Amino acid sequence: MPRLSTRVRSLKPSATLAIAAKAKALTRQGVPVVNFSLGEPDFETPAPARRAAERAIEAGQTHYAPTIGDPETRAVVAEKLVRENGLRGVTGDHVAISSGAKHSLYLVLHSLLDPRDDAGDVLLPTPSWVSYAPISELAGGRVVELPTTPESDFKISPAQLRAAITPRSRVLMLNTPSNPCGTMYTPDELRALAAVVAEAARTVAPELIIVVDEIYEKIVFGGIEHLSIGSIPEVAERTVTINGLSKAFAMTGWRVGYAACPGEFGLALMRGIDALQGQMTSCIPAFILPAIRAALKECGAETEAMREAFARRARLIYDLASGIPGLRCPRPTGAFYIFPDVSAFFGKTSPGGAAITDSLSFGAALLNEAHVAVVPGVEFGSCGGDHVRVSFACSEETIKAGMGAIARFTASLR
Ligand SMILES: Cc1ncc(COP(=O)(O)O)c(C=O)c1O
Repeated sequence: MPRLSTRVRSLKPSATLAIAAKAKALTRQGVPVVNFSLGEPDFETPAPARRAAERAIEAGQTHYAPTIGDPETRAVVAEKLVRENGLRGVTGDHVAISSGAKHSLYLVLHSLLDPRDDAGDVLLPTPSWVSYAPISELAGGRVVELPTTPESDFKISPAQLRAAITPRSRVLMLNTPSNPCGTMYTPDELRALAAVVAEAARTVAPELIIVVDEIYEKIVFGGIEHLSIGSIPEVAERTVTINGLSKAFAMTGWRVGYAACPGEFGLALMRGIDALQGQMTSCIPAFILPAIRAALKECGAETEAMREAFARRARLIYDLASGIPGLRCPRPTGAFYIFPDVSAFFGKTSPGGAAITDSLSFGAALLNEAHVAVVPGVEFGSCGGDHVRVSFACSEETIKAGMGAIARFTASLR
């Protein structure tokens, strides 16, 4: 019997995907499911980006492109990072464009870590997005969780980071604003974390790098300014910034992500990514490159309109969630999720007879009996098992209907 690699056999199938599949099946049967499980904006891709791709196809840009992007588009990304994010010294040569931020993350971690790396710890604040741990492990890293709690808005403290760093530490993963937590670090908090990394790099962990995922940077509404940690001089040349067009520009299906890092090390990293991507996917579709330029240069009004819509939805869903007895969550400040603690309902039974013992059984009963799909938090790590992720990438009517159904469901638990 032929066999599969240990690599793929050790990848756990997602338990939460089972809920997503069930939601789809119910919808196909005609059951009106409120879908709070989606991780993508419900808006159209802005017209300038769509038109740029259409024009490029008509003009025959349908062949291979340079592996990590053409010089013009890489320069536009670099200009954005310098202008908007304060990443000093980043040029097009310090940028690699890939098939989504997830792919960028994969390429970065595979360029930094070795298989079975015995000095390859990835420090990961949790709860965190489900892909960080598997991608780190696929790259050979060992994930070291830095657990957080709702009391600190799911953020690590400088002291916690200092205590976690050892000579094995290679990567500190940060994601701000956060999926699934819906919270973000303040500029001062990031400066304090940067100071810890800079100090550790001078002493115990000379190879430590920050990899920061800023894909939700434009979806902020809590009065906290988004600061790119890569703009802080003492860590600038040991910070890899990852971003993409999926969330801010409603371009999930276009598969555009990028990684950037200034300085000599940044140039070496981009050469590594270029070699790796060259053996993997070659390049993103050539006709998407002009759409990236159009999005970054011409779609400011559209992204701001989407941000305002998310801000209204965040206020609405937080107010509705706060009115549900037993549900507890910090006020969302960024991204499009709330991450309420539902552990007050563990030990109860639903009207349909389901025992609610954890966030998975809570999510399954909520879907089966109230027809609302949320993502159980168990796969996000640490306290995530007590939480569910509720996405508000949907209309205000949907938010009202879904939160009403959650309120009735939780009140009916005995
Ligand atoms: C934190 C975070 N990073 C990266 C991604 C993936 O983005 P992309 O579509 O660019 O691969 C997601 C998507 O859900 C995300 O939530």
